[in-house]
Amino acid sequence: MRTPIIAGNWKLNKTIDEALAFAQDLKPALSKAANVEIILAPPFTALSVLAEALNNSSVLLAGQNCYPAQGAFTGEISPRLLRDAGCVAVIVGHSERRQLFGETGEFINRKVKAVLEEGLRVILCIGETLQERKDNQTFKILEEQLRKGLAGIDGTSMARLVVAYEPVWAIGTGQTASSGQAQEAHRFIRDFLATHFEQAVADSTRIIYGGSVTPENIDGLMAQPDIDGALVGGASLQSASFIQIARFGRV
Ligand code: 13P
Repeated sequence: MRTPIIAGNWKLNKTIDEALAFAQDLKPALSKAANVEIILAPPFTALSVLAEALNNSSVLLAGQNCYPAQGAFTGEISPRLLRDAGCVAVIVGHSERRQLFGETGEFINRKVKAVLEEGLRVILCIGETLQERKDNQTFKILEEQLRKGLAGIDGTSMARLVVAYEPVWAIGTGQTASSGQAQEAHRFIRDFLATHFEQAVADSTRIIYGGSVTPENIDGLMAQPDIDGALVGGASLQSASFIQIARFGRV
């Protein structure tokens, strides 16, 4: 019922040439990753050339961030311009944005709204730090980030929103959440969606996991009932490992 998503977040990596070489590797491998939605979030500079290179393929493009307005905001990028460059989705609230650039829940909520208003899809990232997990605050933090991020969003718009659970302690550390830990958090998120909206919204919303996903651990994660895909950082930078992840469940 929920089509799995494998998304690659390249963060601040890859020149235009490197992005194009990746696309050339990815395109022929796609037929072997059937029934999976493949999304790439390259740096902004590679978006429009990738859109052209991946035209006629099923790969979708996402922005890694946006600013919730248009006009005199030097150095920012809007949902409208991301759509113009070929994006169908935007990653919002990544922990690197929250931690390194001081983004608040309220600001992230403005971005969620701006992306939805532009007709694009949102990948809303949430997740606890190691200290918060140690302090048994995980569910409290997830609920707070969901409440703020989704404030004013109606159930109908949720058809265009994906939640990405990315425990901060698992990002770029090689320390993946165990399948059990991830499933527990995903279950909590789905239960929250059922209470906040309704059961049908909870049942149809994709909740994907991010944090040191590799070809080795993807199968265990995808076997969990509430894990609907992955948001992959480091392992999405090499086409071979990203393709292996996109072909999860197969040898
Ligand atoms: P890593 O896969 O490198 O841990 O990064 C995860 C991530 O932040 C994806 O958005």
